[in-house]
Amino acid sequence: MKKICLVVGTRPEIIKMAPLIRVFEKNDINYFVLHTGQHYNYEMDKKFFEELELTRPKYNIEAGNLEYRKQIGKMVKNIQEIYAKERVTHVIVEGDTNSVLAGALAANKFGICLIHLEAGLRSHDLTMPEERNRILTDHISDIFFVPTQDAYDNLVDENVDKEKIYLTGNTIVDAVYQNIKLAQKTSNILKEFNLEKNDYILITAHRPENVDNINRFSKILEGFDAVSKLDNHDLIYPIHPRSLINLKKFEIERPKKVRFIDPVGYLDFLNLIENSKLIITDSGGVQEEACTMGVPCVTIRDNTERPETIRCGANVLAGVDPEKIRLYSQKMMSNKKSWENPFGNGKSAEKILSIINKL
Ligand code: UD1
Ligand code: UDP
Repeated sequence: MKKICLVVGTRPEIIKMAPLIRVFEKNDINYFVLHTGQHYNYEMDKKFFEELELTRPKYNIEAGNLEYRKQIGKMVKNIQEIYAKERVTHVIVEGDTNSVLAGALAANKFGICLIHLEAGLRSHDLTMPEERNRILTDHISDIFFVPTQDAYDNLVDENVDKEKIYLTGNTIVDAVYQNIKLAQKTSNILKEFNLEKNDYILITAHRPENVDNINRFSKILEGFDAVSKLDNHDLIYPIHPRSLINLKKFEIERPKKVRFIDPVGYLDFLNLIENSKLIITDSGGVQEEACTMGVPCVTIRDNTERPETIRCGANVLAGVDPEKIRLYSQKMMSNKKSWENPFGNGKSAEKILSIINKL
């Protein structure tokens, strides 16, 4: 009999794994959740379990805020012990974080069937920790659930056996569809921050290549300042802990019209996306959500592993040049806002379960 372990560690993994947990619960699947504790603040972790009504993880390894080698080492050692104790037959990891790599390495040791969700994404930029984690994980995985044809093609180009790749869409679309109505009903975030529908811009920035680098972080903030002057828009920035630490450390001046707030829960964030005029981000998940919810997006990176969002007209790459950020924001706000969602129809989790059942 199968015994499945779902490994999560960070905010986006909890959100993207939630639809799968729901269908596992509904279908009485023999599974448990293992949390690496990579994210640990209430608003980066527990808040999502509460809002999405997920049972608490059976294990938490508490491997957050550690230097890379120590973090991976602690995670792999502890995860291996749990796999062995629980006699796990299948492991599912989602995405490209350190938790994903550790969950995969630990499974590799025991010859457990390793399933990679959101496999095959490539930015072709090996300086990104996420790109290295994705490639390493893909190359020791047994089963690949890919969100798009691009991801499928990337794996085939790297000689992965086609028989093991399944095109399922991205569970983030399931998560949006399952929670948007509840968000509309319950979230008061617009009122709380005195924001008008379609009259503010939502920002997130947390990638190490952007916020660990004083030069790039300063340019990004200059870009936000320039955008705020376009139409006198409010900019709202729920700031990731990594970015807040660096903002303080670098003592960069904060643009006047940008409102820095604590990270918000998923329902508030969905509400913020849905009613925003534009999104400026370096997040992977937020590029997908913007595309899914019909909100134009400017990505403050030099590349993206989600090229489908650019091709369909939902997204544009601006890098960190302030003038480019301003121009592209202006252009995207005046563009038409309809495109076909490349990430699927919101039924990915069901599709994934039916394939797992046949393994
Ligand atoms: C990680 C992922 C990144 C993902 C992001 C989602 C890796 C290599 N990176 O980046 O791909 O986009 O999560 O948000 O796995 N911190 C806190 N409290 C928390 C979480 C983090 O204070 O709950 C602070 C700590 O100082 C920590 C730093 O943020 O050292 C960075 O956290 P970490 O998990 O290492 O990386 P992220 O930048 O969150
Ligand atoms: N998110 C959230 N609150 C916030 C910012 C983001 O709930 O204040 C959610 C967002 O809806 C998305 C996910 O977090 O689903 C994206 O996570 P993040 O940007 O941290 O990571 P990435 O997707 O870049 O790996």
